Amino acid sequence: MKIDRCLCFQKPFSQLKRVAASQKCDTVEALQEYVVFGKKCALCKPYVRRMLETGEVEFSEIITEVEA
Ligand code: FES
Repeated sequence: MKIDRCLCFQKPFSQLKRVAASQKCDTVEALQEYVVFGKKCALCKPYVRRMLETGEVEFSEIITEVEA
């Protein structure tokens, strides 16, 4: 299964990446000032953190808060 978005708010990581670049956000919290995501189950947050580090927008592995 491919993981490519915040499911709760239907926000693709590719979209979050564009916003992060244009608003110069380098943390999940900073990005949340501009887009609503990650405020329900929060399972997407470690992925968004990884996205901000590596630029990846699609994941096939499970990433948990502990590993991130
Ligand atoms: S998947 Fe992002 S808050 Fe649930």
